[in-house]
Amino acid sequence: MLKVKGVIGLQWGDEGKGKLVHLMSESFDVIARYNGGNNAGHTIVTNGSSFVFHLLPSGMMHSHILGIIGNGTVINPKVLLEEIDWLTQQGHQIQDRLFISKNSHLILPYHTFRDEWNENLRKQRIGTTKRGIGPAYTDKISRDGIRLGDTRDIYVFRQLLQQKLEEQKTMVQKLYGQDPLWDIPAIIEEYSQYAQTMAPFITDTAYLLNQAISQEKKVMLESAQGTMLDIDFGTYPYVTSCSSLVGGASTGLGIPPHYIQNTLGICKAYTTRVGEGPFPTEITSPEGQILLERGHEYGSTTGRPRRCGWLDIPALRYAIMLNGVEELAIMKLDVLDTLDEIRICTHYQPKDEANSEYPSSQHEFAQITPCYETIKGWKTETQNCRSFTSLPLIAQDYIRKIESYLERPVRFVSVGPDRKETIER
Ligand code: GDP
Ligand code: IMO
Ligand code: MG
Repeated sequence: MLKVKGVIGLQWGDEGKGKLVHLMSESFDVIARYNGGNNAGHTIVTNGSSFVFHLLPSGMMHSHILGIIGNGTVINPKVLLEEIDWLTQQGHQIQDRLFISKNSHLILPYHTFRDEWNENLRKQRIGTTKRGIGPAYTDKISRDGIRLGDTRDIYVFRQLLQQKLEEQKTMVQKLYGQDPLWDIPAIIEEYSQYAQTMAPFITDTAYLLNQAISQEKKVMLESAQGTMLDIDFGTYPYVTSCSSLVGGASTGLGIPPHYIQNTLGICKAYTTRVGEGPFPTEITSPEGQILLERGHEYGSTTGRPRRCGWLDIPALRYAIMLNGVEELAIMKLDVLDTLDEIRICTHYQPKDEANSEYPSSQHEFAQITPCYETIKGWKTETQNCRSFTSLPLIAQDYIRKIESYLERPVRFVSVGPDRKETIER
């Protein structure tokens, strides 16, 4: 049996997963998303045009790929159908190529409403994408959600939706002291339309995927978000609401954990984060602005500027351990091309036994200081380099240094957004 390949973000998301999944998926048969929803934004740039996938697996532009969206995801039907429409307009056949789990959960208008309100009421905001992700997962866990499978019988769905909307309206009035002014009949009509259009895509994806694996199909798991945003192991509470580790793919798709092997960990040649929360290597000097502008570090989903910082080896070591990463992809090396000096955070101080654990609270983060090794910048353009040896020697050393700190081989080095701007070693 062929093993399933995991592709994981090792930082706070936006590492370049979309680019790499799209690139690698040429030699795969199935790409499966297993977590998150349209808080994700995975960018693909090919022949000068770019597209951001929020929900569909990033390999869907290849006509041979079967795309699976697993039970671990939360689905905004409007966004889903817009992506399907866009791909269809581009001449891609989607029917019989996209399968969405009947056990995935619907994001409804009251989820986005609550996301916005919860953020406004928090003394310390998380900086969510306000896409209703947290409230949709909250309802899932408290067993109040509506699943995609529930939309297949339109009569039952309309009744269920009516009941939920009325319950939620009462709850919003009690909790926030405000009438949400929802037009319940109009919402029911709108979502009934979505339900009918989505119906052909909804199925039991666990059977489908396990069958594909047993038939020796090559399967890739495309994570959304990044390890440091994981609900359990990320910088809680400044995290998302699901598991973004490779382990989440087992429960988010219904495949046995031992099927997953050869996980590729993706990170930028530096670090970024959108939203609030600890960020030990954040740059507050003007170099941060250089990375922001050269890297076009504006969120693919919300357009917010991303906070920028240096490469953080302790955080990456932690992420590699949690995911059993076997090989690495270093993205956006070209963004560092103009810097006089580049810093790598090699460890945090104090470095005693207790602190060898990765910090897990605001209090613990406040007590550590990142310690850096500084290297000279290479001050040469790398965007046109297509082999490792054509990179400036200092850039090669930078990659080798990362390999030695992380004790994992770097398989891909990315030097530009376009799929062709990639070096595979
Ligand atoms: P994802 O969420 O992990 O798929 O990443 P995003 O798509 O949100 O963000 C990555 C951004 O970096 C996108 O705008 C990509 O087009 C861009 N990108 C990816 N790789 C490179 C690279 O090597 N160099 C540069 N300059 N941009 C890149
Ligand atoms: P991709 O898949 C970067 C961040 C938000 C916020 C926190 C919680 O493109 O890498 P949420 O809306 O999930 O409740 O927000 O998580 N976040 C992301 N940051 N990339 C993502 O996805 C993200 N998905 C969520 O900015 O800080
Ligand atoms: Mg993104």
